[in-house]
Amino acid sequence: MLNKNVKLNGKTVLVTGAAGFIGSNLVLALFKGFENIHVVGVDNMNDYYDVSIKEYRLQEIENAQKSGEWTFVKGNIADKELIDGLFAKYQPALVVNLAAQAGVRYSITNPSAYIESNLVGFYNILEACRNYPVEHLVYASSSSVYGSNKKIPYSTDDKVDNPVSLYAATKKSNELMAHAYSKLYNIPSTGLRFFTVYGPAGRPDMAYFGFTNKLIKGQTIEIFNYGNCKRDFTFVDDIVEGVKRVMECAPEKENGEDGLPLPPYRVYNIGNSSPENLLDFVDILQKELVRAGVLPQDYDFEAHKKLVPMQAGDVPITYADTSPLERDFGFKPATPLQVGLRKFAEWYKEFYKI
Ligand SMILES: NC(=O)c1ccc[n+]([C@@H]2O[C@H](COP(=O)([O-])OP(=O)(O)OC[C@H]3O[C@@H](n4cnc5c(N)ncnc54)[C@H](O)[C@@H]3O)[C@@H](O)[C@H]2O)c1
Repeated sequence: MLNKNVKLNGKTVLVTGAAGFIGSNLVLALFKGFENIHVVGVDNMNDYYDVSIKEYRLQEIENAQKSGEWTFVKGNIADKELIDGLFAKYQPALVVNLAAQAGVRYSITNPSAYIESNLVGFYNILEACRNYPVEHLVYASSSSVYGSNKKIPYSTDDKVDNPVSLYAATKKSNELMAHAYSKLYNIPSTGLRFFTVYGPAGRPDMAYFGFTNKLIKGQTIEIFNYGNCKRDFTFVDDIVEGVKRVMECAPEKENGEDGLPLPPYRVYNIGNSSPENLLDFVDILQKELVRAGVLPQDYDFEAHKKLVPMQAGDVPITYADTSPLERDFGFKPATPLQVGLRKFAEWYKEFYKI
C-alpha cells in the first residue's frame, strides 16, 4: 500500500467536467469525505447529450450537505485565458481533469471536438499546472487506449500504441503529454484508465442508457458484434472511490542517477476486472427495468432486439488487470451489475417520472 502524502481537508481542488457523469459524482464524494474542501468545478455544459442531465447533476451538488465551498464556472478548458485565470485566482492544490469529449463512435463523425477538448484542453491544464504548481494532477484516460489488444486482462505494462479510434488516440496522447510535463516540470501526475462506467444519471450515449430509451419507446435495440462483446462494466461509485484514493497518493518526486528528476508519473486501470457478455448485461438490465417499473412485466424483449455486426472503432473485449490498483490502494471495484443496474433503473424511473 502507498502512503497517503496529499491531505485533502481544507484544500482547493479543481475538477474539470464537474457537471459530467463521473465529475459530478466525484464532487459529491469529495464533500462527503473531506472537511472544508473548496471544490472549483469547470464545465462548458456542451450539448453532446441532454444538458438537463448535466443541470440535474449540478443541482444535486447544490443540494448536498457540505462543510466546504463549491464554486462552479461555466467555461471551456480549451480557452487558455480562462484556465490560466482560474489557476491564478484559486491556486488549486489538486486538479482532476475529467472534462473531455467522450465516446468512441462520435469521434468518427466529429473529430474536431476531440482535438479541442482532449488535446488543446488538456495542454492548457498541463501548462497551468506548470505555472501554478499543484500537489497532484489526476486525469481521465480510458480503457480504449488498449485498442484491440489480444492479451487479456489488459495491463498498464502492455504496449498501447495501436489505437482504433481518434478518441483512444487523444487519451493515449494525454498520457504521453502528462509524462513529458511530469518529467520536464516535476508535476506529480496520475492517469486513470476507466473501464465502461455506468450508473444513475449516467451518459445517455452509452449502451445501457440508450437501450433503455429505445425499449421504452417500443423501438428495437441493436446489439453489436452479435452480442459477442464483453465489457468490464464498472459502477460509478467504484470509479469515484478509486479516484479519491488515488488523489491522496501523489507519485513522489525523486532524482535519478543522473541527478535529474525522475518523472513523478503513474497510470492505473480502474475497472471491474470481471468482463460480462453484452447479452447477459442486457438480460440483467431488462429484469431491473421491469423490477423498477420502467417497463411492464409482460414486455416482449425478444421482439425488440436485433443482433448486428461490430461497429468501426469498437473492440470485442475490455478486461482490466487491477492488481497494481489493489497493491497500491488496497481497493478494487466490485459492485455487481445487478446492484448497479438496479440503482440506474430506479434513478431512471424517478428522473423521467415514469
Ligand atoms: N464513462 C465512461 O465509461 C468512461 C470511460 C473511460 C474514460 N472516461 C473519461 O472520463 C471522463 C469523464 O467521463 P464521463 O463519462 O463523466 O463523461 P461526461 O461527458 O458525462 O463528462 C464530461 C464533462 O466534460 C464537459 N466538457 C467536455 N468538453 C469540455 C471542455 N472543452 N471544457 C469544459 N468542459 C467540457 C462536458 O460538458 C461533460 O459534462 C472523460 O475524460 C472520459 O473520456 C469515461
